[in-house]
Amino acid sequence: MKAIILSGGKGTRLRPLTYTGAKQLVPVANKPILWYGIESIVAAGITDIGIIISPETGEEVKAKTGDGDRFGAQITYILQDQPLGLAHAVKVAQPFLGDSPFVMYLGDNLVQSELDLFLDKFQANHLDALTLLCEVENPSAFGVAKVDAQGKVLQLIEKPSVPPSNLALVGVYLFSPAIHEAIAQIKPSARGELEITDAIQYLIDQQKNVDSFRLEGWWLDTGKKDDLLAANQIILDSCLDLTIEGEIDAPSKISGRAHIGSGSRILNSTIRGPVNIGKNCQIENCFIGPYTSIADESTLIDADIEHSVILKGAKVIGIHQRIVDSLVGERAQLKVAPQRPKALRFMIGDDSQIELI
Ligand code: DAU
Repeated sequence: MKAIILSGGKGTRLRPLTYTGAKQLVPVANKPILWYGIESIVAAGITDIGIIISPETGEEVKAKTGDGDRFGAQITYILQDQPLGLAHAVKVAQPFLGDSPFVMYLGDNLVQSELDLFLDKFQANHLDALTLLCEVENPSAFGVAKVDAQGKVLQLIEKPSVPPSNLALVGVYLFSPAIHEAIAQIKPSARGELEITDAIQYLIDQQKNVDSFRLEGWWLDTGKKDDLLAANQIILDSCLDLTIEGEIDAPSKISGRAHIGSGSRILNSTIRGPVNIGKNCQIENCFIGPYTSIADESTLIDADIEHSVILKGAKVIGIHQRIVDSLVGERAQLKVAPQRPKALRFMIGDDSQIELI
């Protein structure tokens, strides 16, 4: 069994954060989204992993993620010249996959599930495709499945305007090599992509063995700011690594669960977990409230913040009105003079600078 993780594509939905970087590398609780997928695949015992990359962001994904050693896996990078669809990515990966069955994982999805259960069903029932489904409120934003009472997939439609059910396709799939033949038969969709949903539909039409698995845990498609904040909250709630490696001075108070990375200094501040602070950060005269992640090398001075994500090297200075539900991009600077309004809400891209004076 092999795995491919799709980490190419255009990444337009998190703009401006992903003007400059791969959306799959945006951190959730200070860890790139992509790495959660790799860890979950390795935990299921699959160590031969291909990662699909694009010409624009591929080098960044490679440099950050490496050859797989840190995960106990072997990673092969596969270049997809253009984002021509999920099924196109499988086509490009065919030389890597050979005739092996495989897991396909979308690199911008965060899924709480034991892949083992999913794998067991696939292998025990000799399936050609197993899809993971989750009930959602807005099925039109996803691939949608119509299933029978036993969960057998009858029909799949990509982003339908009139959805046949509220069961969305989660970005984790299992395939036998029969999928390659199906992909060879399908044509690009109206949006110009080779859709994996069309390839699975082809398998269904050929009476192949296609089944579904209902996801009970949470699933987050992290393409948008609010999804990313929700993902950050869930990860901080469920798997925060509790360690204090940095320095905390005597007036500072830490309550609840907190991770404070090495080289970080917490001065005269209150930290109320769950909070994740990376390495080499300076936090001075601050209130850092629940569900906040602050990436490495950030500086927060005279600032109050909660339920927010601060990316690497950002600076937030002089904001005692509570910052909430905010996403601050890499190296962005936010500086405010005293006595400003009560509430501020931001989404600020990499390298932005905002000064309210
Ligand atoms: O998130 C679940 C949804 O993902 C499913 O419900 C849909 O059926 C499925 O088509 C997909 O829809 P999206 O429109 O969200 O896919 P997106 O374009 O965001 O691509 C998903 C991941 O695959 C992302 O990490 C980028 C990568 N990708 C995408 C394309 C189109 C590639 O590596 N190559 C590509 O050509």
